[in-house]
Amino acid sequence: MDVYLRDLLRSHAVPGWTMVDLACGTGTLALLMAERGWTVLGLDNSPAMLAQAEQKRATLNKPVAVQFGQADMRDFALATPVDLVTCCFDTLNYLTAEAELACCLAAVARALVPQGLFCFDLATDYFLRHYWQGVEFEEFDGYSQVMHSHYDAATGCSTLVLTGFTATASGSYQRFREVHVERAYPDVVVRQLLAQAGLVVEAVYDCFTLQPPNERSLRLMYVARRRPPDE
Ligand SMILES: C[S@@+](CC[C@H](N)C(=O)[O-])C[C@H]1O[C@@H](n2cnc3c(N)ncnc32)[C@H](O)[C@@H]1O
Repeated sequence: MDVYLRDLLRSHAVPGWTMVDLACGTGTLALLMAERGWTVLGLDNSPAMLAQAEQKRATLNKPVAVQFGQADMRDFALATPVDLVTCCFDTLNYLTAEAELACCLAAVARALVPQGLFCFDLATDYFLRHYWQGVEFEEFDGYSQVMHSHYDAATGCSTLVLTGFTATASGSYQRFREVHVERAYPDVVVRQLLAQAGLVVEAVYDCFTLQPPNERSLRLMYVARRRPPDE
């Protein structure tokens, strides 16, 4: 994702080199962007994710300009606004109520300097309908998982139940279960909510390319800029 963002930012200039990676997870993108020269704040609401991010930073063995902090993406505020906010890998699809997405976009707009940029991806309805649907089994060395997914056309939400089995030192397996619910948002709704938040869409791409979306796009990348306050 860092390479793709670098390519995007060649066509969509940002005023400076400060950024927030929203819902940063284990900090992969935040650390890669810091290595590219950005001053990064990684925010996530999960202490477990943030602990892993700190661990990853420690293993770099070199100083990088990254801080990690706990925040809810639906309601966060920065002391100093930044030039770029990123939110990647389906994260906004986890906001399954339109009002939550609107709150998040408003918080992002407040976190940006005028002309600052927001780059985020969204899994498409096509993706959730065709890929988060049915049963899938995967086996790796020391780990296997079963994923049951169900797409609900009435809500546009897919629910994925992941049951994982991790091999332990004693030769047995430890079982865990995760439930993920993602909602696809029509482009027209996303644009409307961005506009309400004061964010102007500059481009929408078939994610990981610089091509426009097509009917089989799995994920879209939105590039939106904060409107200057006087407009
Ligand atoms: C699909 S993961 C993506 C992680 C990361 N962006 C990446 O690309 O690897 C979703 C992340 O969103 C975080 N998250 C979910 N709801 C959140 C919320 N309301 N506020 C902040 N983080 C949230 C989760 O803890 C998780 O780290």
